[in-house]
Amino acid sequence: MHSRDAAWIAAAAGAELVLQSPPAGAPADPQAPGPSSVVIDSRGDWRTAPGDARPLFVGIPGARVDGGSFAAEVLLAGAWGVLVRPEHAAAAVEAGYGTVLTHPDPTVALGALARGWRRELGATVVGITGSVGKTSTKDLLAGILATQLRVVATEANLNTEIGLPLTVLGAPEGTQVLVLEMAMRGRGQIAELAAIAEPDVGVITNIAPVHVELLGSLQAIADTKAELLAGIVPGGTAIIPRDEPLLAAHRPHGVTVVEVGPDDPAPAGLRIAEDVSPTVLRNLPAAVAAARAVGVEPDGPVDPRISAMRGQRLHLARDVVVVVDCYNANPMSMTAALDDLATSAPGRKVAVLGDMLELGPDELRFHAELGAHARSAGVEELVAVGPLSRHTGTGFGRGVHWVPDAAAAAKLVPTLLEPGDTVLLKASRGIGLERVADALQGEGA
Ligand SMILES: Nc1ncnc2c1ncn2[C@@H]1O[C@H](COP(=O)(O)OP(=O)(O)OP(=O)(O)O)[C@@H](O)[C@H]1O
Ligand SMILES: [Mg+2]
Repeated sequence: MHSRDAAWIAAAAGAELVLQSPPAGAPADPQAPGPSSVVIDSRGDWRTAPGDARPLFVGIPGARVDGGSFAAEVLLAGAWGVLVRPEHAAAAVEAGYGTVLTHPDPTVALGALARGWRRELGATVVGITGSVGKTSTKDLLAGILATQLRVVATEANLNTEIGLPLTVLGAPEGTQVLVLEMAMRGRGQIAELAAIAEPDVGVITNIAPVHVELLGSLQAIADTKAELLAGIVPGGTAIIPRDEPLLAAHRPHGVTVVEVGPDDPAPAGLRIAEDVSPTVLRNLPAAVAAARAVGVEPDGPVDPRISAMRGQRLHLARDVVVVVDCYNANPMSMTAALDDLATSAPGRKVAVLGDMLELGPDELRFHAELGAHARSAGVEELVAVGPLSRHTGTGFGRGVHWVPDAAAAAKLVPTLLEPGDTVLLKASRGIGLERVADALQGEGA
């Protein structure tokens, strides 16, 4: 954004340019009249970053504090400018330094600015949503594309109406593809994200009972994901799960629709360099289809750098393999992980399964069904972790070990293992099941 001046930024953001510094007409650095980046954290790394980081600070009103109240402070700390609500303009101007922009809703202005930058970049944009596998698909796709193109992809969980614009605005000039994860926390949110990103390619990984409490039904969940399909630019490509009846009413017009399934064969020459679980690789067909839609034929070695706790495999002593899948859990991803354990474990199958949170009124049934599924998948040892998991134990029946929390599991699991075991660790994030992985590694089992 270095090369865009205050007037361009105001126009793109739909903001009012209250004060321009240096003033219009005065000599600004012609190479870099604009901000070095866009930030929302008044105390972020930019303050201590070496070199001359001169960001645009967007003051987002939060639940407790309005970021705009830091306007003068960030200007004095060296920000290029601020974008705040009008009531903060006077204090910002008084700082006597930097550009001041106002908008009644800085979050909306941030999104508009990101859309402006997305258009300037002219990069191909891929949007990814779905109930599970968004980050995994994003990581696989970014890995494949990066073998041939300059790619910027969502980092960590910057997948909301604030994180997505920040990702777009962080893309340097010359970026060829943007791979954007889109989170759904309610009706209309994906539509909002799509309106900012204007995706050329839209991927829906799947539809499953995740965040049911929020929306009420599976069809309602599908309807919100489908907002992405409606937001794909004309002539673009939609990549959707094959034969998903919940999406039947949402097939978009004027875009190419590609249907994929988890068992579609991978391109012959493609090699995933990292040791990731087969569950994560269920997303490979969607990533391959998205790469092709961008014009890249997946080939050769790819290092996708799958985000932490999504099925990395630890190889311990005595041929014990631990699948660390503790980032989140729900009936769909649990079932998939158990099925993958069943087909990939060379020896005994050990499952350490914790509570699945946010499942709504059917949560006890979902846990009981999970236990029954673990039994039918041939799990030899089941450790059920957490209050809801008592029902997982009931579903599993004879031989289950139940413990109240991850700390107790971390003590118990090392005592149960035998040479050649494959151990699946999976639970909702809140359970903190990675403690078991730490215990197993520390012990060098
Ligand atoms: N296609 C899939 N089918 C079933 N389970 C999957 C699939 N992809 C990923 N998972 C499981 O879901 C877990 C979370 O994956 P990932 O982080 O990619 O999902 P996400 O959709 O980004 O989640 P979030 O909504 O928290 O951002 C993985 O560790 C794996 O267990
Ligand atoms: Mg994610």
